[in-house]
Amino acid sequence: MIIKSIKIINFRNHSEFFLGCNPDTTLILGPNGCGKTSVLEAIYILTRGKSFRATDSEILKRGEKFYRIELEYENGEKILATYDGSVKTFISLDKKSRRLPKKSKYPVVLFLPSDLNLISSSPGRRRDYFDRVFGEFNENYSSDVSRYEKALKQRNELLKADQVSNPSLFSWNLLLAKYGAEISRLRKLFIDEINTHLTKTYRSIAENSDEIEISYTSEINNLTENAYLKKLEENFMRDSYLGHTSFGVHRDDFVFKFNQKPADGSASRGESRSIILALKFIESDLIYQKTAKKPLILLDDVFSELDPPRRQSLVKNFKNNQVIITSVEDVLL
Ligand SMILES: Nc1ncnc2c1ncn2[C@@H]1O[C@H](COP(=O)(O)OP(=O)(O)OP(=O)(O)O)[C@@H](O)[C@H]1O
Ligand SMILES: [Mg+2]
Repeated sequence: MIIKSIKIINFRNHSEFFLGCNPDTTLILGPNGCGKTSVLEAIYILTRGKSFRATDSEILKRGEKFYRIELEYENGEKILATYDGSVKTFISLDKKSRRLPKKSKYPVVLFLPSDLNLISSSPGRRRDYFDRVFGEFNENYSSDVSRYEKALKQRNELLKADQVSNPSLFSWNLLLAKYGAEISRLRKLFIDEINTHLTKTYRSIAENSDEIEISYTSEINNLTENAYLKKLEENFMRDSYLGHTSFGVHRDDFVFKFNQKPADGSASRGESRSIILALKFIESDLIYQKTAKKPLILLDDVFSELDPPRRQSLVKNFKNNQVIITSVEDVLL
């Protein structure tokens, strides 16, 4: 589907803003702080259900009581979200709901400047990154992750409390094992799929013969739900001493490999950028394969970070998608 327009009210620094979108490329041009990323953020909320960077109370324009954002697709379908300071409501297909309904979601490939540092950033950032991407591949993955995170929080709170007993943790252990085993299975599956294309796609950008791979590093390693549960139970003494859960998918990492060595430390800056570009292209292809929808591409200020050949390759690769770009300078496309 093609986005026709987006209208935003009391959203970040915008009192009222309207953007008509082209079916191919739309450029949002303006100085630092004028509210470019915020427009992408509003589009992201109306396509994916929540912001990629903040909570609604942080987004609501300071001093205002509500925000309202509205997106119209080319086929006339409208999606609206309002937030009144405590509750967010989506309206799509004339129905109100607290969450954006699955059938109103649209896949997005989001490219933020910080993604260019993904290889050398923290494991937590990489987990968040791949969780977002895998949520595009499979809707159930995202709900498994949020259920896992809720259970983890509850278990950790119990562990921090005095005199915690093993039986009181049991129900949380069950949930962690159930969702954790599934999250791990899907992480491995999706990373394997990405790896199938990574070296070839990278070589088409960088025009050399390096080998690229992402290694999913996890203690879970094909554990069944039962084996996962047993591990949590075995760790009880240790966890209650530590006051947190020391075993599980919340400790996984995704390590980029450059010619079999960790890319962080061996790939150059330019090479690292080509790896991330390749990853974005593969994300877009796999989303299309899995959902039969051409993802919307949101490029937040990344052109200024790329040299002309990489800019060209970005433009060429996404020429059949709707692309919305923010930039502080007029980028030559
Ligand atoms: N809740 C809020 N109310 C009012 N203003 C806000 C709020 N949250 C953020 N801002 C301000 O809104 C402005 C727009 O932020 P945004 O990140 O969209 O800018 P930008 O155009 O992408 O900037 P840059 O080019 O630096 O990335 C910033 O000045 C920011 O400080
Ligand atoms: Mg910005």
